[in-house]
Amino acid sequence: MSRKILCIGAGYVGGPTMAMIAARCPDYQVTVVDINAARIKAWQSDRLPIYEPGLLELVRAARGRNLFFSTDVAAQIAANDIIFVSVNTPTKTYGQGAGKAADLQYWEKTAREILAHAKTDKIVVEKSTLPVRTAYAMARILNTGEKDVHFEVLSNPEFLAEGTAVKDLERPDRVLIGGRDNDRGRQAVQALVDIYAHWVPRERILTTNVWSSELSKLAANALLAQRVSSVNSLSALCEATEADIAEVTRAVGMDSRIGSRFLQASVGFGGSCFQKDILNLVYLCEHYGLPEVAAYWEQVIKINEYQQDRFVRNMIARMFNTLSGKRIAVFGFAFKAHTGDTRESPAIRVCRRLAEERAEVVVTDPQALGNAAHDLEGLPGIVLEPDPYRAAAGAHALAILTEWPEYRTLDFARIHAGMAKPPFLFDGRNLLDHQALYDLGFNVFSIGRAPRSHV
Ligand code: UDX
Ligand code: ADP
Repeated sequence: MSRKILCIGAGYVGGPTMAMIAARCPDYQVTVVDINAARIKAWQSDRLPIYEPGLLELVRAARGRNLFFSTDVAAQIAANDIIFVSVNTPTKTYGQGAGKAADLQYWEKTAREILAHAKTDKIVVEKSTLPVRTAYAMARILNTGEKDVHFEVLSNPEFLAEGTAVKDLERPDRVLIGGRDNDRGRQAVQALVDIYAHWVPRERILTTNVWSSELSKLAANALLAQRVSSVNSLSALCEATEADIAEVTRAVGMDSRIGSRFLQASVGFGGSCFQKDILNLVYLCEHYGLPEVAAYWEQVIKINEYQQDRFVRNMIARMFNTLSGKRIAVFGFAFKAHTGDTRESPAIRVCRRLAEERAEVVVTDPQALGNAAHDLEGLPGIVLEPDPYRAAAGAHALAILTEWPEYRTLDFARIHAGMAKPPFLFDGRNLLDHQALYDLGFNVFSIGRAPRSHV
């Protein structure tokens, strides 16, 4: 079997995944292509287009040896036999299914490019998250009979989380490969198993039919997001009853059937996957005539929006019902710590709401200010400030929106001294030591806990 791999799409999924395959499989040649020339240039440099701990070392170990980056999509399609596709599949913003269905235009364009430039048989691997049965459409486009070439389509969804991508790729809970149950399908699946078996224990490599594999990706993200929305819904009840969400999640998490991970109450979930994949699931359910199932999953998103809006409503209520002209320092803009990614970050919605209230919003973040500038473009009263102390100077309130560990070790006595009085602190991640901050003179409001307030 050929040992030449191509990946189309050099984004958050394609780049790190291919770097890991190249690093662990020196007997394979891996090429990553993208239509975005600036991105490819960045992958060829030491300033990678995405920030992930350990990624630069991984790329450096293989780049130029068996890992290559290029913009020549056509030539590379012809030159490689296993083609991973990890182009973007955003939520559709127009026409039928707008706001829910996946926009498959980049995906279909890629399929047609593969068809146009292939001269020999190919294994085409769906890496992007896609609606169930996309592989069928892909296979239909590819195997039109125009050419004497066979395309075998596999589904191999990626479960890496941002910020821990390298670790997740190195020791995945499982690798999932969906293929057809016939000779060609089984051969193609085996070709992919052979790659992952270089470093993943065989019992962690699952093979299923194509549709199960596609749906498992949506289901995993839906269940994870549902956990966060479940905890966040309970956090509202905790605030009303003086129960403490940290104590509740600790108690329920010790039940081994529930498990303790992914129970952190927050201002809401973000990231490129959760919302998009649930919307996709909702659309699929509606399409297949299952409105009750669709409504069930849609509620996960509604609670997430409710949680973000509730956070701002609480800020307004606590700060004497007006934010107009007040300076609010937003600590953290990334959708979670250890990434510069801001896609669907709750900070975007919160900052918009604060700007609507005519607050002066000063945003600080160690990695995400570049993306924040883009996300908040055109909003009045926004200032971006890399230094958290300067961001907090003169502020009426701090709002912690990303759980960056470095915020724990800030000198809050110094911050307190420079703030307008009375100083408010809204901890949207329950990150800080609330009692210590209260003792310093802050009025502290967190998620799912009784307030500690002097006013
Ligand atoms: C997610 C899935 O975890 C991953 O398997 C999939 O491949 C892509 O989507 P990611 O979006 O990178 O990964 O981040 P994740 O760590 O899952 O966090 C998503 C959001 O949920 C973040 O905004 C995070 O802050 C929030 N979250 C997570 C909580 O609010 N509480 C938690 O307990 C866990
Ligand atoms: P993900 O998070 O799924 O990896 P990204 O948006 O980070 O998504 O990356 C997708 C990449 O796919 C982008 O860099 C984009 O330029 C690239 N892309 C989209 N369409 C094509 C195409 N037809 N050929 C090559 N690359 C493409």
